[in-house]
Amino acid sequence: MADENGRLRVLVLHGPNLNLLGKREPEIYGSATLADIDEKLIREGRELNLSVETFQSNHEGAIVDRIQSAMDGCDGVIINPAAYTHTSVAIRDALLALSVPIIEIHLSNIYKRESFRHHSLIRDIATGQIAGCGAYGYELALLAMADMLNHV
Ligand code: DQA
Repeated sequence: MADENGRLRVLVLHGPNLNLLGKREPEIYGSATLADIDEKLIREGRELNLSVETFQSNHEGAIVDRIQSAMDGCDGVIINPAAYTHTSVAIRDALLALSVPIIEIHLSNIYKRESFRHHSLIRDIATGQIAGCGAYGYELALLAMADMLNHV
């Protein structure tokens, strides 16, 4: 469902603590801030003829609400559920209600880290997953989404 300019809509969701990017464990998560990442995605989205909307919350229910409101008016979802990746049945269930491509992304390689991070409750319902490519992973996710939506 394209927007008024004929662009397909991609929702980018960021989970808890990602508002601290740039300050939070930069040796793991890098120096880019969330604003840097969001601005780049919006700009590159325009070049790909995609309308990118971003949303960050530290609250599970707020993320569930945003996913529910994406049931109308969203063509693809890119999500870094952050710590909720490993715990949230509620976010998984909300994503299951969507019928659009979903890309799960992590800045760090969760499979190289503590064992509790190895399990993702999203990975088997996501169309694709990107992990360990830092902030660049979001750009890769957007390119992959454009391809999935047949925009390139
Ligand atoms: C993360 C990895 C998660 O395990 C962690 O809880 C995060 C960020 C990542 O992007 O690498 O907050 O999703």
